[in-house]
Amino acid sequence: MIMKFFIDSADPEQIKKYWDLGIIDGVTTNPTLATKVGRPFRDLVLEIFAIVDGPISLEVLSKDYENILKEARSLSLLHKNVVVKIPMIPDGIRAVKILSSENIKTNVTLVFSPAQALLAAKVGATYVSPFLGRLDDIGENSLNMLKEIIAIYDRYNFATNVLAASIRSARQVEEVAIAGADVVTIPPEILETLYKHPLTDKGIEKFLADYQQSGMDPLIKIS
Ligand code: E4P
Repeated sequence: MIMKFFIDSADPEQIKKYWDLGIIDGVTTNPTLATKVGRPFRDLVLEIFAIVDGPISLEVLSKDYENILKEARSLSLLHKNVVVKIPMIPDGIRAVKILSSENIKTNVTLVFSPAQALLAAKVGATYVSPFLGRLDDIGENSLNMLKEIIAIYDRYNFATNVLAASIRSARQVEEVAIAGADVVTIPPEILETLYKHPLTDKGIEKFLADYQQSGMDPLIKIS
């Protein structure tokens, strides 16, 4: 399977930029990201549906089983690409089991341990989102957690996709790719850094300067 990149943002402008660059396959949002753009979330979501043809995670705000189910079913009816993001709590896991049987796609979020990831897989979640950056923030080793989740899923052939989340650096993207995450969700400011290396910029300048200095005509003339 090819590794997928999602963009961790609710900002249609940023999402369109990276969709047009051809490097993203889907989108993850959360209630905090939704408030950051400063426009009604419904408007943002409708714009995102029109830009991205790929999985789009939208998070429930409810915390009890009945309301999580109601909210998740309504969210899933908004668009065929909706993946319902559900927090890693007992009522959430209970709801995911039902939603899986209804073929509603789910993303179990706020996962910080292999045990939590195991529960998400057992109830048939489509994605599990281990939060790497937030775990590192409290002095733990998030890469070990990710590797253990991948090892457990491989051991039992669980179908749940491992979606590495809470990403803080380009190096972390490299590390989760080496570890074998199915998906990584990346904030726009980190996506930007993936392109960058000082030797790339320096190299382009030198190639162009050398050619111009030679006075030779270009192979192709662009009018
Ligand atoms: C995942 O789906 C979350 O939206 C996100 O990765 C959280 O990251 P943060 O810890 O940078 O808020």
